[in-house]
Amino acid sequence: MKIFHQKNALNSFVEEERNKNRTIGLVPTMGALHKGHISLVKKALLENDSVVVSIFVNPTQFDKKDDLEKYPRNFDKDAELLKVVSDDIVVFAPTVDEIYGDNIKSETYQFDGLDKVMEGEFRTGHFDGVGTIVELLLRTVDPDKAYFGEKDFQQLQIIRKMVEIKKLPYTIIGCPIEREPHGLAMSSRNERLSPTTRDEANFIYETLKTAKTKFGTESAQEIVQWVESEYGKHPIFDLEYFEIADEATLTPILKIKNNQKYRAFIAVYADGVRLIDNLRLN
Ligand code: PAJ
Repeated sequence: MKIFHQKNALNSFVEEERNKNRTIGLVPTMGALHKGHISLVKKALLENDSVVVSIFVNPTQFDKKDDLEKYPRNFDKDAELLKVVSDDIVVFAPTVDEIYGDNIKSETYQFDGLDKVMEGEFRTGHFDGVGTIVELLLRTVDPDKAYFGEKDFQQLQIIRKMVEIKKLPYTIIGCPIEREPHGLAMSSRNERLSPTTRDEANFIYETLKTAKTKFGTESAQEIVQWVESEYGKHPIFDLEYFEIADEATLTPILKIKNNQKYRAFIAVYADGVRLIDNLRLN
């Protein structure tokens, strides 16, 4: 396995691959890898000659200093996990200094309102930070395709928008959500849940699935009210938001249109840990 910490070294590798006409897939991550990340890596390995996995905890996308400091970091464990998948994977693990120098700042993007709802509403500046690092990673690795999980569906749509407005020549691939056997979406944050909470956290996926069965017979407003009342009764989970939105615009729906795709989006606090999930409704 090749591991690069510097952009220059990575650039030389990319140039060699290009000279050999080999295709490159990029999987950006912040480390603390789990089966969700690995599913992206496996898809990238199937579709490209070479795969670069970046591991970088990006400071500009954290709105809370505490969250950034608490973010789990274990490079050796991540490298071991990737090695088991394939010894051919290339890891790019730069320092904050290598990426930002002494200018740890985000660019400001115009995401056509995609960044103003849901995660954007509750995490100021988060998506400018994501846009900044993903643009930089794309330009550095210059891949044919880059892979992102639907777990962070809003992020995926925002990255698609960023690539469109910046006219970048990269194909963005969305990958399905990997779940724990009982349904909780896999996340690095799940490790911070107590065993009881983690056991009970299938409640989140269960409410999404019930919302899906209600979709079509009940109005969006009725479904939202039902979810809010379910969480109001639950002793462990605090609901931050539940929205039914158009997949393309991410705006909450007022009226269902036949030719549009809709998704339910949720953010919940448990044991002080913020969990997000979503599910396609039609
Ligand atoms: P991170 O949270 O490490 O996630 C890296 C990628 O893995 C993202 O595309 C995310 O959607 C995907 N992922 C996480 N959990 C998943 C699951 N259960 N199923 C499928 N895919 C999953 O998202 C980020 O990092 C950062 O914002 C990043 C894009 C790397 C920019 O810093």
